[in-house]
This record gives sequence, structure tokens and C-alpha cells, in this order.
Amino acid sequence: SDPLRLGIAGLGTVGTGVVKIIRQKASLLEDRAGRAVTLSAVSARSRDKDRGVNLSDYAWEDDPVALATRDDVDVFVELMGGSDGPAKAATEAALKAGKHVVTANKAMLAHNGQALAELAEKQGRSIRYEAAVAGGIPVIKSLMEGLAGNEITRVMGVMNGTCNYILTRMQATGQGYNALFEEADKLGFLEADPNLDVGGIDAGHKLAILSSIAFGTQVDFDAVELEGIQSITLEDINHAADMGYRIKLLGVAQLTGRGLEQRMSPCLVPASSPLGQLEGGTNMCVLEGDMVEQIVLRGPGAGEGPTASAVMGDVMDIARGVHLPTFGKPADKLEKVKPARAV
Ligand code: HSE
Repeated sequence: SDPLRLGIAGLGTVGTGVVKIIRQKASLLEDRAGRAVTLSAVSARSRDKDRGVNLSDYAWEDDPVALATRDDVDVFVELMGGSDGPAKAATEAALKAGKHVVTANKAMLAHNGQALAELAEKQGRSIRYEAAVAGGIPVIKSLMEGLAGNEITRVMGVMNGTCNYILTRMQATGQGYNALFEEADKLGFLEADPNLDVGGIDAGHKLAILSSIAFGTQVDFDAVELEGIQSITLEDINHAADMGYRIKLLGVAQLTGRGLEQRMSPCLVPASSPLGQLEGGTNMCVLEGDMVEQIVLRGPGAGEGPTASAVMGDVMDIARGVHLPTFGKPADKLEKVKPARAV
């Protein structure tokens, strides 16, 4: 059958990782999808930058909208970031031109996901976004496919690698916040605006997306109660440790008698629990459903390889003709309320 042809906009850590997979694993991808997965064109802010990968085989577009609407592109892979602006404009243009979209852009989905989902539905196309939540962990697929027969009662997670890195390394090394922030930066975890990380906003975006799938509601970032890690001190961490606890930036979304509560905030968790033992840039998603009780997924939440892995999982679904709805159900059937208390 015909190859599936990609256009990639954004050649940062993740985009470069995706190009490498396409170049290095062409025959494996073709065997698994039953058709070749190829790259037609790329776009990024700077053409000259050395990214350690040969781009001369691909057409170049300065304008992501031009890339997204090319005739030789079947899937627009949006890895630019930003909640609106060029990423959103190009995503809309791609859907209107009948392309599928794969994105890692949690900010765009948390703020504009509902409108994009409706556009995709109208066009009969997919928007897939496994890479937007918890990096390499296939948590979206788990909720949408493997757990589709469950009523989900609660989702919890540590979903920002930067914060988990800083918090666990402060405790392990006794170093201050700033030194560890720099280390996290070197590992490629940070957002372009690191306040999104340490302010809990990035993790809040991810929780809003997961909640919408788990509970069949519209994505609503403003309904997430948020608190970041900026005010956590070494002293807090040491006090918690003395009592047998760790401090984690933990997201919790659950159904209560009042409605759907979503909170992302620093929480005490027992040091011996799976969440308490989660170290470095690792993420953990805890999914609770009426049939399975509890599923725990643990893995790398950021960085080139893991995030590119999630992007390619989505590309492979599209190559195989698998279509999933964008979010759980586009109906807003639950009232979203601010949590009454910490969980
Ligand atoms: N800045 C994010 C993190 C990247 O640290 O987890 C992955 O979404």
C-alpha cells in the first residue's frame, strides 16, 4: 500500500528524535505497519542549526502552515509547542486540509483541545497526542483502549520530570534548587518557559487532558486547582523525610459527590510507596477503574527518546488505520468543581 508521509514542524529535542527513528528504523516500521512511513518535509525556526541529523533528504518550509498543507504530507506532526500562535494555526490548517495530526503539545490541547477535537471530528481526521502526557508512558492508549471497559474512578500522577528531578535530587544530594534546576536543563527536560514546569502548569495541562479522557468531559485547564514547587525548601523536604514521607508534585483527578475534582500540587506521599520511590525525571500514572482496581504505569516522562517513542506510537496507529476519538466523549456531563481539600 501507499506510504504514510509525514511533515514535521519543530526540530527541537523531540522533533530531532522523531527524524532519527524514521531514518534508523524504516524497515521495522514498514514491517509493523504494513506500509512505509516516510518523511516528506520539515520546518523549524532556524534552518542552519546543526541538529546532528541529516535533513537534506527532506523538503524545507519556513512556514509551518505551508508544511501542514503540502500535498505530499498525510500526517502533520506538530512539535513546535505553545498553546496558540503558530502551532494552533498550523494544526487547524492541517485538519482543514484533511491531514491527520500528531502532537506533543499539552499546552495547546489543554487550552484549545476541545475546538481542535471538534474540527478533527468534522473533518473525519485524528488528532493523536500520546506524547503530550507523561512522555514515553502510553497512558492515553491505556485509558482509551485497554481500560475502555472500566468506569474510571480516579487518575493520579507525577507528570512533570523537571519537578520530580529537582525534588528527588534535593533530597538525595542536599543541593539547592538552583543547581538541580540547571541539571534538569542539561537533561533536556525543561520547557522553553521553565515557569511552566516549576509552577505546576505543565503538569496541570497534562492532568486536564487525562481527566477529559478518563471522565468523558471537555478539557478544561481552568478547572484544575494548581500549586507549583517554587516554595518547597530543603527544610520541607528533610522534615518530610524524617517522618517517612517524600514531597511530590502530584496530580489527582477524581469523582466525588460534588463533581470532578482536579488538583496538581505538592503532596506528602509515604517514602516506601511506588510514588514515594519515584526518582529523577521519571513519571508515574496511577489509573483506578471499577474492574481493574489499580494500574500503575512508570517510565521516562521527558527527553528525546521517550517522547519521540510516544509520537511514533501515534504515527503507527494512523499508518495502520486505527482511529480513536480525540477525547473521551465531547459531552460535558460532569460538573467540574474545585477540590474541597488536599487528597
Ligand atoms: N517539561 C516537561 C517535564 C517535559 O519536565 O516533564 C515533558 O513534558
